[in-house]
Amino acid sequence: MNSIREHWGSRTGFILAAAGSAVGLGNIWKYPSMAGQHGGAAFTLVYLLCILIVGLPILLAELAIGRKTQLNPVGAFKQLASNPRWGWVGLMGVASAFMILSFYSVVGGWTLKYTFSALFGGFNQLAADNTASAEYFASFHTSPFAPLFWHFLFLGMCVFIIGRGVRSGIEQWSKVLMPLLLVILVILVIRGITLDGAKAGLDFLFKPRWSDLDASGIVLALGHSFFTISLGMGTMITYGSYLRSGSDLLKAGLWVVFLDTLIALLAGVAIFTAVFAQGQNPAEGPGLIFIVLPTLFPNIPGGAIFAPLFFFLLFVAALTSGISILEVVTAYYIDEKGWSRRRATYLFGAITGVSGALVSLSLGDFNILAPFGITYMDFLDGATSKYMLPLGGLLTAIFVITKWGIPNFSREVFSMTLGGRVPESVVTLILTVSGIVVAYIILKEMVEIFI
Ligand code: TRP
Repeated sequence: MNSIREHWGSRTGFILAAAGSAVGLGNIWKYPSMAGQHGGAAFTLVYLLCILIVGLPILLAELAIGRKTQLNPVGAFKQLASNPRWGWVGLMGVASAFMILSFYSVVGGWTLKYTFSALFGGFNQLAADNTASAEYFASFHTSPFAPLFWHFLFLGMCVFIIGRGVRSGIEQWSKVLMPLLLVILVILVIRGITLDGAKAGLDFLFKPRWSDLDASGIVLALGHSFFTISLGMGTMITYGSYLRSGSDLLKAGLWVVFLDTLIALLAGVAIFTAVFAQGQNPAEGPGLIFIVLPTLFPNIPGGAIFAPLFFFLLFVAALTSGISILEVVTAYYIDEKGWSRRRATYLFGAITGVSGALVSLSLGDFNILAPFGITYMDFLDGATSKYMLPLGGLLTAIFVITKWGIPNFSREVFSMTLGGRVPESVVTLILTVSGIVVAYIILKEMVEIFI
């Protein structure tokens, strides 16, 4: 065990780091494409509700477990439960981290490549031509070499930052990158809403048409409320473990959720105003960012500047999330195995590098899971975001209610709220409801596979 644990330099530093983890590809890539396919504003309202009912309580549970124990997820569960078996929940988180980083880093690489392409006029020949753009994207991301280069570059940056530690690595970089992200996003939003025809995009995002919301949209919103705040794999336990006791956890948690939601909505505004202004289809799904957007920029006044800015924004969002995933595994090896930070980041960086390379190749001609009819990428994404993360969250809620105890949890989180007199029954009820809702998502997914 290492004896001196690093701590965040300031509360703002922690909030920016945690928000940096939460704000990622999920906010700028996944949320707008899901909202586009499942009814715009109606989807957004359900998503907001899910964040409050499911996301916030479990976020607070993770932060509290981390701060109380000052340990990585595996050590934290073991210590509070006084039973090594609960360590498995933490271990599942560490495994999820490895799986998520393998594909996250590949997509992070795409954002880098697109930033460079945009910078050097690579989208010019794609103006208003979805077919050309789809071909451009396909020929890049399925090719065997180019995406590997960008993936290693992205991962290398994560390893570099995490290798420098909590304060001079994660916190320093988050303090620079998060404000930068917000500034770029505001610039893009202003550009979006001043386009002719932008209003249709705003209506789509903010005026609910309930008929467009189907059951699968609701399940997606639930699962996403989880993914978008980086829950279920111990990220927030790890980040919470670098907090000193005494600060107001509830306030910090509310800040993180607020920033994450704000940035998702702003990204939605920037994207849908541009999509509608050029009469494109909002329901493009995952291709919205890498296929539709490149066709829009050449026809937007100033597009040569806004295109690289947009993809750089996506890259920054991915980077601050990528580092937090790497930190989960690093903290585990440092605390539990006594490794040095360097050794943990280099070794794990190398392993993820290989796994990520397999992810990238799985999209082309070399898919190790071909016999099972699924790409390695979809397997890693589906297994984690549909099952492992919700299961991790469910077990965290069960753990707090049955093992750690609501009084201990409340003392950690609500000591500064209402003079510390938040009724236990209310806290139990909230955590139980979020647990039941998460259990429902998992069951629903299973039903879809087996029936
Ligand atoms: N929250 C990140 C996003 O919105 C994705 C994510 C899920 C994540 N789980 C994570 C990031 C764990 C870091 C750690 O893109």
